Amino acid sequence: MIPAAPVITVDGPSGAGKGTVSRLLAEALDWRFLDSGALYRLVALAARKRALAMDDEAGVIEIAGNLDVRFETVPGVETVRVWLGDEEVSHAIRTESCADDASRIAAIAGVRRRLLARQRAFRGPPGLVADGRDMGTVVFPDAAIKFFLTATPKERAQRRYKQLKEKGIDVNLRNLLEEIARRDQRDQAREVAPLRPAEDALVVDTTGQPVAAVLQCVVETIRVRGLWVG
Ligand code: C5P
Repeated sequence: MIPAAPVITVDGPSGAGKGTVSRLLAEALDWRFLDSGALYRLVALAARKRALAMDDEAGVIEIAGNLDVRFETVPGVETVRVWLGDEEVSHAIRTESCADDASRIAAIAGVRRRLLARQRAFRGPPGLVADGRDMGTVVFPDAAIKFFLTATPKERAQRRYKQLKEKGIDVNLRNLLEEIARRDQRDQAREVAPLRPAEDALVVDTTGQPVAAVLQCVVETIRVRGLWVG
């Protein structure tokens, strides 16, 4: 039997730096990349477009099972480009309201079940870097290395603020801090696949650390574990 391609998982709450670090890591390794949060955001956006309420479980589950999406990773660009049907929604899925909707529909067990096979399909040679909340606990429990990135809520809010401003999205820092706290609470308290480190995850506190330092720490760990091929 051909062994399954290796997976490195990078989980953690929003603003912990996992999006940037996992994207750069995938690029450095020349591995595939899964931004699982984008899938939840896409389901939420598709539900909005159909004027569904986020608690319309049957409707949202149906959308999750029939998502017509396409991802494209662009070298040197931090976030992936995303299409829903024929429409590019790379920016539309990055708003805070879409993130809030995403964290609501992410608590629906049927939605998570429908997205499971789609996420696992990203796995392939030479390997996959998977970014999310439950990559190490549920989607790829057999991952070769599992990271769980954290940072204080204040720092995470400041990072999100900067990222959103750079994308031209208007936000207020205090509101952002409240929204992040609300989303953390929802993600950690949900019954299915709550946000938590896998038992065998390496927890990395990124507070006060520039991206380059976090990336270096992650790369060193991968080297020590013998997975670095470069
Ligand atoms: O990572 P991102 O901010 O794009 O995720 C948006 C929301 O999607 C999260 O707040 C979380 O509720 C949900 N999510 C999840 N499981 C994942 C990735 C994201 O529940 N693996």
